[in-house]
Amino acid sequence: MQKVSILANDRVFVLTGAGVSAESGIQTFRDSDGLWAGYRIEDVCTPDAWEASPARVWDFYSARREAAFKAEPNPGHFALAELEQWLGERFFLCTQNVDDLHERAGSERLVHMHGELAMARCEDDCGQPPVSDRTIYKSLTAVGRCSCGARMRPHIVFFGEMPLEMGKIQREIDRSTLMMVIGTSGSVYPAANFVRWARQKGARTVYIGPEAPQNAESFSEIVLGKAGQVLPGLFQVEG
Ligand code: APR
Repeated sequence: MQKVSILANDRVFVLTGAGVSAESGIQTFRDSDGLWAGYRIEDVCTPDAWEASPARVWDFYSARREAAFKAEPNPGHFALAELEQWLGERFFLCTQNVDDLHERAGSERLVHMHGELAMARCEDDCGQPPVSDRTIYKSLTAVGRCSCGARMRPHIVFFGEMPLEMGKIQREIDRSTLMMVIGTSGSVYPAANFVRWARQKGARTVYIGPEAPQNAESFSEIVLGKAGQVLPGLFQVEG
C-alpha cells in the first residue's frame, strides 16, 4: 500500500475539495452526477444571481444545508483529524467545502475558504460578523434582516468574489514543506494555484483522489483512490 511519509520537520498543508465529502453522500460539483449538471452557476452562485433572485439562491443553499446537515463524516475526514492530533501546529487544513464534516470529525486548525453553509451574513457587508443560521428556508419572507436593515445572505463565496482568509492561507502555504490536495478537480482559482505556490517554495506536493486533477502536472506524486478508502493508513509519521 502506498504511503506518504511525514518527516520530523515537515509542516503539512492540506487542501480539500468536494471529493472528500463524496463518500458522506454529499454531491460534488463537476462529476457527471455533480451539482453543476443540474444547476447553472450563474443562476445560483454569483453576485448577479443574488441580485436577480435571492429566493432562488436561498432555495439552492437550503437544499445544500439539508443534504449536509444529515451527512456524517467519513473515514477520510477522521484520518485528517487524526493526522492533526499527531502533528499539532505543524498541520493546517484549508477546505473549499462549505459543509462542517471536517469539524465534526475533530479537525480544529482549519479555514473554510469558500464560506460555511451553517452561517449567514449581511448582503451589504455592513461590518456585522456572520451569524449561525441552520434554517432550511421554504420562502424568502422567512429570511431575516441584518440590524442595518439589509437582507441576510448565505455565508458562501460566490463566483467572482474573493475567497476568505487568503492572508492566513498564503502564510501557511509559504511555510509548508508538504502539501496534500484531496478530492478537488483543480479547476477553481485561486485554490487550484496553491499547489504551484507550494512547489515554488520547494514543498513536496501530493494529490489524492480517484482521478488526476486538471492541474496534475504540478504534483510530485498522485495517489489514485477514494479519500475514505485511501486516507486511513496513508500517512507514515516519522517524528
Ligand atoms: N474521494 C476523493 N476525491 C473524489 C471522490 C472521493 N470519494 N469522489 C470524487 N472525487 C473527486 C473528483 O475526481 C473530482 O476531481 O473530487 C473532485 C470534485 O471536483 P469538483 O466537483 O470540481 O469539486 P471542487 O474541486 O471541490 O470544486 C471547487 O467549485 O463550485 C465550486 O465553490 C465550489 O468549492 C467548490 C469549488
